[in-house]
Amino acid sequence: MSSGKPVRLGILLSGRGSNFLAIAGAIREGRLEGVEIAVVIANVAEAPGLAAARDLGLKHEIFVSKGRKRAEHDADVLACLRAHRVDLVCLAGYMRLLSPEFVAAFPNRILNIHPSLLPAFPGLDAQEQAFDYGVKVAGCTVHLVDEHLDHGVIVLQRAIPVLETDDSHSLALRILDEEHVAYADAIARVASGEYEVRGRRFVKRKVSIN
Ligand code: GAR
Repeated sequence: MSSGKPVRLGILLSGRGSNFLAIAGAIREGRLEGVEIAVVIANVAEAPGLAAARDLGLKHEIFVSKGRKRAEHDADVLACLRAHRVDLVCLAGYMRLLSPEFVAAFPNRILNIHPSLLPAFPGLDAQEQAFDYGVKVAGCTVHLVDEHLDHGVIVLQRAIPVLETDDSHSLALRILDEEHVAYADAIARVASGEYEVRGRRFVKRKVSIN
């Protein structure tokens, strides 16, 4: 992904869209170079993130998933991503599992952000799960997406201490601040193309000096 052309992002979201807005902000402010948002796609018509994309003048599409077969819905989303020549798909609060066909169509080219230090607390309400478990360190993970839930190769994690004064809400808010930093950072690393996936390890590619 380092051909010199901007890496085109396809953002998929279901709700608020704060991670999408953090990515858009990082691009706008020059903190995330060589990357552009090609399209924002929502699977929920009322998603505030979709309205935010429209307000920013970005290309945006809605494919309502409720009541549709996964494979059929995903085929529509895939066609849209291809039509917009997307290089890298970023799931930003996209609360829907991808079909195996979707994952295979973008090998190692789909990122997800999850509000826990995976492999702990996959699934819904991860911050609350972590708080209720009593962990002393919490955080977020950006990972490559495979066909399993919150499972693929980890690109990066950011950790924070759980404070005595926290409740699950305050903890979730502080994790969200870390998410907003982590996602742009992870996109920069993947978009640079300067990495290898060795087993489950995402590692910086060694530069050979001839
Ligand atoms: C974020 O906390 C994200 O990590 C989480 O949904 C929230 C979306 O917020 N995703 C998952 O739990 C995925 N398993 P946002 O719409 O404001 O970005």
